[in-house]
Amino acid sequence: MTTMPADATPIDYADVQGTILRGYRVDFARHFVLSITDPVAAGTLLTDLVNGSNGLPKITSAQRTGVRPACFLNVSFTCTGLAAMGVSAADLATFDGSFQLGASNAGVARNVGDVGSSAPGHWIGGLGDGAQVHMLVSLWVRDSTEVLESVSAQLRSAFNGAATILLEQDANALPDNKVHFGYRDSISQPTVLGAPPTKHAPDDQPVVATGEFLLGYTNEIGGSYRVSPPQLSLNGSYAAFRILEQDVAAYDALVQSFADKAGVDTEMAAAKICGRWRNGNPLTLSPTQQDPLLPRDQLNNFTYIAPPAETDDTLGLVCPIGSHIRRNNPRNEAVVGGGTSANHRIIRRAMPYGPPYDPDKPDSATRGLVGYFINASIQNQFEFLTSQWSMTYTFVKSATAPGGTPAGNALFNISGEDVFLGVNDPSSSAFTFPGAGANGSGNTTVTGFGRTITTRGGVYCFFPSISGLTYLAGLPAATG
Ligand code: HEM
Repeated sequence: MTTMPADATPIDYADVQGTILRGYRVDFARHFVLSITDPVAAGTLLTDLVNGSNGLPKITSAQRTGVRPACFLNVSFTCTGLAAMGVSAADLATFDGSFQLGASNAGVARNVGDVGSSAPGHWIGGLGDGAQVHMLVSLWVRDSTEVLESVSAQLRSAFNGAATILLEQDANALPDNKVHFGYRDSISQPTVLGAPPTKHAPDDQPVVATGEFLLGYTNEIGGSYRVSPPQLSLNGSYAAFRILEQDVAAYDALVQSFADKAGVDTEMAAAKICGRWRNGNPLTLSPTQQDPLLPRDQLNNFTYIAPPAETDDTLGLVCPIGSHIRRNNPRNEAVVGGGTSANHRIIRRAMPYGPPYDPDKPDSATRGLVGYFINASIQNQFEFLTSQWSMTYTFVKSATAPGGTPAGNALFNISGEDVFLGVNDPSSSAFTFPGAGANGSGNTTVTGFGRTITTRGGVYCFFPSISGLTYLAGLPAATG
């Protein structure tokens, strides 16, 4: 049972947009990316969405009601979108630096690996031209395509005259919460201090300060992220919206080649790349074989540094230091720059899109993962994870296994970039299967593989609080 420190500031759930603190557990989503054409009309649209008036669904807050609604809706803005609504340049200068630049900025894109075929110039829906991307309206629907279509029709007609639709990006859940590479997802999420309780019992990982996910609250280093004006400075959050296309056939071939080169079976190779077996069991708890799926309340209860020596995995011999989950949340592993993983957690609200891939009937359909990676600091969380932990291997602190030097040093046991999120140019890509032996002598490192996940779009967004949305709705008329 998670306990809340006595000094935790209570969160006004009714003022927080729901997706920040609640996983909706739905089968369908549709993300509308909008360019505002008439700010006053956009203000009216926003008021209708906040109130649920004129036949539109009401923006979902973090406050649960007794009955689960058939659909959920949240709204976010880009920096140019806030400017279009009338937020002043002086106020915008107080926002997250990367948010101000936007996801399609060349320097921002380079920093997170959106280069080559992933560069903004190749993005769909005009997302590569950040100046025209203003607003995202995301609709999540529990299980009915009829509800999805009827609410979409209402929204499209309400957008008319206020904004043009640049892109409608759908998402649809796959069975067992799987993603297109066949792994179960949506297991590890940070437990946020003061957030509403979730369906499942919390894991045994440290509770993360509210201010890592909501503006205006204390964060992990004792400060808080704030912006001007004050109406936007409490209960809001940022997110990186990502459309990540997955090439399943290429990934299956990559896994097979890793297995051949490392002399392990394909499922073990797949588990080493991710850090979890495809059924969701973590390697740390199921080191040698997939095992039947562990109970949900055990699936995320593990750390990498766990003396005594028999349970410790400092060297990544069980779960590679370069695996996707260990890079993106090194838990209690020592990382360069000090601090703990809790300073760099992220809430993932992404779902698959596109049809399941059938290897017996190869097709050319596009498929991948789309959604929000939510945090109170894009720079310190989403971009840090990507640019530091996923795209470099020098973040691991020098360490020897408990008991001394013979087993070697963690620094030898990681190379290259995250197989999922790295740029992975075949001329320099590398993934290390750590093996016992002094200073990496037992390792197998595979090289020469390419990228199997391509960025098809990115937007840096700001989710205002519900009261912040009402403030924004009134701005165009007021600033006229
Ligand atoms: C198509 C792209 C991606 C795929 C296929 C993918 C796949 C996965 C899978 C299968 C898991 C394990 C399930 C779980 O622990 O809940 C996972 C965990 C995770 N992923 Fe990704 N992911 C993708 C993109 C990203 C991105 C863009 C980020 C952030 C920049 C990210 C950060 C994380 C984090 C933080 C975890 C949890 C690690 C932990 O707490 O142990 N992933 N991902």
